[in-house]
Amino acid sequence: MSPRTSPRLVLVQGDITQQDVDAVVNAANSSLLGGGGVDGAIHRRGGPEILAACRALRASHYGKGLRTGQAVATTAGRLPARHVIHTVGPRWSATEDRSELLASCYRESLRIAAELGARTVAFPAISTGIYGWPLDDGARIAVETVRSTAAPGIEEVRFVVFDERAHEAFAGHLA
Ligand code: AR6
Repeated sequence: MSPRTSPRLVLVQGDITQQDVDAVVNAANSSLLGGGGVDGAIHRRGGPEILAACRALRASHYGKGLRTGQAVATTAGRLPARHVIHTVGPRWSATEDRSELLASCYRESLRIAAELGARTVAFPAISTGIYGWPLDDGARIAVETVRSTAAPGIEEVRFVVFDERAHEAFAGHLA
C-alpha cells in the first residue's frame, strides 16, 4: 500500500472565480441562493446554471437550508472550475467559540471534493469577510484543518485571498 500523500498547499492573491482548478469552494449562506462577497462573484461569473442547481438542491434536500459547517456541490456553470462546493461558514461571535464549525467547512468541503474526484481545490478565507471572523484566526483554522484532514486524490489545495493583509495572514500560518 502506498503511504498517504498530503496535498500541496499553495497561496495565491487573486480572484477565486478565475482559478483553473477542479473545484472552487464558495463562502455561501444557508439559503444557497446567493449573496455578496465570494458568493456574489461566483454566481455573477458562473452564470444562472449555478443558481438553478442551488434551487434544485433546496427543493430536493435542503428545504430548511444548508446548515453551518456543512457543504454541498453543484455545477460550476461558466467558471473555469468543474464544481462549486458551497459551504456555510459561521458568523464571528465574541461570546461563543464557533471554531469547530469553521473547521468543519474546510473538512466537509475536502470530503466532497475527494468524492467528486477533484485533484485541485481552491478555498477562499471562509467567514473572514461579511461574517466578520478575524483574519489571522480564520487563516490559522483554515491551514491547520486542511493540514490535518485526509483528502484522498487531492494533489493541490489553493488558498485564494483577495488582499495583501489576507496574504500575510495565510503566509504566516503556511510558513
Ligand atoms: N476572490 C477571493 N476572495 C474574495 C473574493 C473573491 N472574488 N471576494 C471576497 N473575497 P465573504 P463570508 C474574500 O464575505 O465572510 C455572502 O453574502 C474576502 O475579502 O465572501 O464567509 C454570503 O452569501 C474575505 O476575506 O464570505 C454569506 O451571506 C473572504 O473572501 C456571507 O457573505 C470571505 O468573505 C458569507 O460571508
